[in-house]
Amino acid sequence: MTPHKTIAVNASVKYDIVLGNGIAKEIAPLLKNVLGSCRLAILTDDKVDGLYGKKIETLLNEGGYDTVKFVIANGEESKNSTNLMEFINFMAEHKLTRKDAVIALGGGVVGDMAGFAAAVYLRGIKFVQIPTTLLAAVDSSVGGKTAIDIAAGKNLMGAFHQPSLVCCDTDMLKSLDTNVMRDGYAEVIKYGVIADRELFDKLKSQTEDINAIVARCVEIKRDIVEADEFDTGQRQLLNFGHTIGHAIELLSDFTITHGSAVAKGMLIAARIGAVLGMEDCSAAIKEVLERYGFDLSCPYSAEEIYEVALSDKKRSGGQITLVIPERIGKCILHKTACENLLKLLKEIEL
Ligand SMILES: NC(=O)c1ccc[n+]([C@@H]2O[C@H](COP(=O)([O-])OP(=O)(O)OC[C@H]3O[C@@H](n4cnc5c(N)ncnc54)[C@H](O)[C@@H]3O)[C@@H](O)[C@H]2O)c1
Repeated sequence: MTPHKTIAVNASVKYDIVLGNGIAKEIAPLLKNVLGSCRLAILTDDKVDGLYGKKIETLLNEGGYDTVKFVIANGEESKNSTNLMEFINFMAEHKLTRKDAVIALGGGVVGDMAGFAAAVYLRGIKFVQIPTTLLAAVDSSVGGKTAIDIAAGKNLMGAFHQPSLVCCDTDMLKSLDTNVMRDGYAEVIKYGVIADRELFDKLKSQTEDINAIVARCVEIKRDIVEADEFDTGQRQLLNFGHTIGHAIELLSDFTITHGSAVAKGMLIAARIGAVLGMEDCSAAIKEVLERYGFDLSCPYSAEEIYEVALSDKKRSGGQITLVIPERIGKCILHKTACENLLKLLKEIEL
């Protein structure tokens, strides 16, 4: 068996995250343990399908699984209700039953949509994540948040539905474009700032062990999800850099990628933290983000960011929750009146 690491998640559903180089070769026996024998509907995107679709399907078929495959165009635009309904109808046409399962083979787009389809098809069937981007490996494949985008905004329709297994073959990350890899690193750096100084310091060095990095991030996410599966408290720490980041992403009409926007958001949040009397972590965060090639300039004014940030899901009543680093390795949730955010953004001079 290929050397690998297993991380157990003890949420409302207990499942394992198995990761390592070449671990996808073991997909059929791994599935046998959690699904037994059943039929599988694979959801993937055209790019991932070209790279890994055939290989995974062959491994599943040779392992005794009957499969059907549905391919969507790659990109965020595909995470929509039309594709969701087509995929659900596809499963119905192929007569998948309650004991069958969905396989998400791809990045966060595929994982989010496959998970949501599995949550609602026949009132819920099992699903397994095979994440193929760094972001999906360290973040979206773990924790059971599933969603699609609707006209009113991103991820506004979804469900909590935990996977039965996450199988992360880190060899698959080798084919990622630099920009997609960099976007994933924004989330990795986020984990360092919110929960692990040692991880953060490792990211400053030139030698990275991708398996160790993914494993550590997944452990942090696992701990947070176990403590607050349904996102009513501590899980909001995972939004570090995201409130401002989402505003920047929206203002740019998505020409600034999610990871780049989150990178800018993290630096702004750290600078706000310093104004609020926390340790000033902004120089350290900037250094690591620059090492990964992030452009940290902010092309928008305090007023523009404020207006868009206010329409964010994280707003509640007249208050907004900001995730602020107290120091590297520990963040806090800072609830403040919405208008204070404008004051703070003006104070740090973007
Ligand atoms: N559910 C959650 O908890 C959660 C958390 C964070 C983000 N998300 C969601 O994740 C999505 C973003 O995910 P993403 O960044 O993985 O984007 P993505 O799924 O769009 O993948 C990015 C690009 O990489 C390509 N790709 C995927 N794997 C590849 C591989 N191994 N080699 C070469 N190319 C590959 C894809 O085809 C796509 O073009 C967003 O929709 C976001 O809302 C969800």
